[in-house]
Amino acid sequence: MARYNTPLRYPGGKQKLTPFVVDVIERNNLSGCQYVEPYAGGAGVAMELLMDDVVSSVYLNDFTYPVYAFWKTIKYDPDFLCARILSASLTVEEWLKRREIVRNPEMHSLQEVAYSFFYLNRCNRSGVVGGGLIGGLQQNGTWKMDARFSRNDLIGRVERIAKKADRIFVSNMDAEAFIEAYTPPKGVDAFFYFDPPYIGRSARLYLNDYSPEDHKRLAVSIQASRHKNWIVSYDYDARIVDYYVKQKQFEYQLQYNAAAVYKGRELFIFSDCLHIPESTSFRPINDVLNPPIPAPSLFATD
Ligand SMILES: C[S@@+](CC[C@H](N)C(=O)[O-])C[C@H]1O[C@@H](n2cnc3c(N)ncnc32)[C@H](O)[C@@H]1O
Repeated sequence: MARYNTPLRYPGGKQKLTPFVVDVIERNNLSGCQYVEPYAGGAGVAMELLMDDVVSSVYLNDFTYPVYAFWKTIKYDPDFLCARILSASLTVEEWLKRREIVRNPEMHSLQEVAYSFFYLNRCNRSGVVGGGLIGGLQQNGTWKMDARFSRNDLIGRVERIAKKADRIFVSNMDAEAFIEAYTPPKGVDAFFYFDPPYIGRSARLYLNDYSPEDHKRLAVSIQASRHKNWIVSYDYDARIVDYYVKQKQFEYQLQYNAAAVYKGRELFIFSDCLHIPESTSFRPINDVLNPPIPAPSLFATD
């Protein structure tokens, strides 16, 4: 099984896509850019790109406060996380306490919320924060709550990321407000990867979800934005194809594991100015790449 750099397990985590994102970045001469994820979540791709120095820095934005708290603590206080991981008490009583903190974050410090979120992420089924404890409250399942809590490995990941902390930027904004507010560092290109909550089946996977209306409005915001280099990914859905009908769109098959293993049909949408890597084996969805040959103009001059 592949080993990843992000310490978070994430439903729909996209780290498997890293080779494809690297292809897009290289094909468009964007190596060394600032890589921006307005829906960062587990930041699977961002951490791979940062560790391999494909990009100069990563900007992680997420509207869910505990997710933001986690990345902010990795950047500014990784020792706190490492100490907590080392001494973690993996009991049902502790899990109930951590769940209470994530449910009431305003009553606790940012670091405490960060660690509690991380704890639930590692101890819950499929990493779903609103989901149940691995092995159940009676701990009588085949797998127990410590099954995904390998202390040394997780501390190693936090420490490796922390070494590059000055190249990580974090914020806690609604993605549409973030698109408006974001400016790349001087002299550096920005490359955006938008990975919004799913349209078809996201309910309860994340702490913040989107309605179909939200997805439609987001499509308008992205396509009207002043940013040039962006890709968007979605679970395949005819509404999304429609919202981005003027853009290049491709379908890709990705294997997920959220409760049960299944293959997802993933849709990728590209901004106008991005070149598609030649190696891509994606199936084009729309005709933007193969436009119909125009009928001869009545006003042709030759
Ligand atoms: C599909 S997940 C991103 C997964 C990520 N690409 C990865 O590989 O781990 C979507 C993320 O969007 C966040 N989110 C939901 N609504 C948001 C909003 N309005 N603005 C910004 N982030 C939001 C959720 O907290 C969740 O972490």
